[in-house]
Amino acid sequence: MVVSGTPPTTNPALPAPPRRGSSIAARLFWAVGLPASLIVVALGALAWRTTTTAVQESLTRELRATVQAAASSVSVRSASTLIEGSEDTAAYRRTVARLRQIASFTGSSRVLLVDEGERVLADHEGKLAIGTPAPRVALDRVELASARTGTPAVSAPFALDDGRRFLAAYARLPLPQDELAAPDGERAFPIIVLVLEAPAVALDAADATARKVAVLVALAVLLVAASSLVVARTITRPLLRLAAEAGRLGKGELADPLSVPAGDDEVARLGATLERMRKALVDRDAERQMMLAGIAHEVRNPLGGMELFSGLLEEGLVELPAEAVSGPVKDELVNQAQRVRKELRYLTGVVNDFLAFARDTPLQKEPVDVAALLDDVATLCRREGTARLLVQVEGVGAVELDRNRIKQALLNLVENALSATPVDGTVTLRAEHGDGRLALVIDDTGKGMDAATLERVWTPFFTTKEKGSGLGLPLVRKLARDHGGDARIRSAPGEGTTVTLEVPT
Ligand SMILES: Nc1ncnc2c1ncn2[C@@H]1O[C@H](COP(=O)(O)OP(=O)(O)OP(=O)(O)O)[C@@H](O)[C@H]1O
Ligand SMILES: [Mg+2]
Repeated sequence: MVVSGTPPTTNPALPAPPRRGSSIAARLFWAVGLPASLIVVALGALAWRTTTTAVQESLTRELRATVQAAASSVSVRSASTLIEGSEDTAAYRRTVARLRQIASFTGSSRVLLVDEGERVLADHEGKLAIGTPAPRVALDRVELASARTGTPAVSAPFALDDGRRFLAAYARLPLPQDELAAPDGERAFPIIVLVLEAPAVALDAADATARKVAVLVALAVLLVAASSLVVARTITRPLLRLAAEAGRLGKGELADPLSVPAGDDEVARLGATLERMRKALVDRDAERQMMLAGIAHEVRNPLGGMELFSGLLEEGLVELPAEAVSGPVKDELVNQAQRVRKELRYLTGVVNDFLAFARDTPLQKEPVDVAALLDDVATLCRREGTARLLVQVEGVGAVELDRNRIKQALLNLVENALSATPVDGTVTLRAEHGDGRLALVIDDTGKGMDAATLERVWTPFFTTKEKGSGLGLPLVRKLARDHGGDARIRSAPGEGTTVTLEVPT
């Protein structure tokens, strides 16, 4: 019975695993983690901008009022008398003293009076000579022009070399009432502008706060990324576990209940559905097995009768008198009767194997002398024209086993090994006992198996032999599992095969 060409229905090819990039975890990160991080960053930037603008506006407002108040405390009359070289005059000293007062009241780093030609008339330290081009004012022409028309103005913040930031504020010294009414060109007093350079400490404080906000934003982004990863994991981990369990179902391993995630969410419901499916498959298998066992049982009885009668027929033909049938015809008839009996014996063997596989026969355990058992099996299998058969057992005493069924399993394993091993090869039967386990090992130096064969050898009815049932190895595994153990195979083409039947003791 050769079924090796048919793919096993219990182990269909599994779909290729999904690409890593398209995993749920990755998708969740892109769909939730990334937008949430972007929103946090955008909110952080908005908060920083709003705060800085508000602080700057409030500073500008305050400074505008301050510069205007300060300008009204300086006498335009005295200031207008300052001309180049008049640094020694009382008017100059009074003006400088006033500017120093303003500097100290307002905390300004520089206070100047600037004439219409953007030249210094006086500064709060009295260091700049009258007529010196006023520092920086060229950069604030718009503000200067606004101040000249009577509207105080404040520049954009600027930083000095030491990194501190300042705002420059401009206001015109007020003219006496009668002067204001006079038309342009007929005024007795020139237009003089007071310039304050005040440190923008509040802006620096706002920046320090912004840096703290940036750190918080970075932490929030990390938190969002980490939590989307954790959420993804909590979703994907049970899914991966279910996928592994479903893979077990796919391989036909239906005996043990699936370990499904607890709870009432979608994944748990999927798990429960898979578990129901497993139970339904187990029931269906049991039903099918019972039906087939029933048929096999019904077939076995007539098969026994047919084998018996074909034997009788063979004997009858052998005993036919020479005058009833000619010699060559008789030989041919005897030969055909023998072939019928041989085929019937093979069929009975297959049916018996199948019944042993399909039925749950209770184990009949008894103390078994393992060394004697292996010797017995080797003696039964040793014959002319096969590979050398060795038994290696040391220090293994009696173990509780179902003697007949273990023997049957070992006979199949040794027959498998012998049929795969050339005459000059070796088949070794070993037993290892210890740590609460007994391992029966059948090792051969035969042709071995390729990966495709190895994957299917435990499937019932898989065989590569003309006259094989393909039930030998499934029976070995069933027997091992009935004893609470298992069976394993290690094999490679051209390197021989090792089958281990392991049971707890
Ligand atoms: N020791 C081995 N070396 C190489 N191939 C093996 C070996 N044991 C088993 N096989 C492969 O596994 C298949 C299944 O073995 P199994 O014992 O289940 O059935 P079988 O030997 O084909 O049939 P039966 O046991 O009824 O005679 C074999 O047909 C063979 O291809
Ligand atoms: Mg076999």
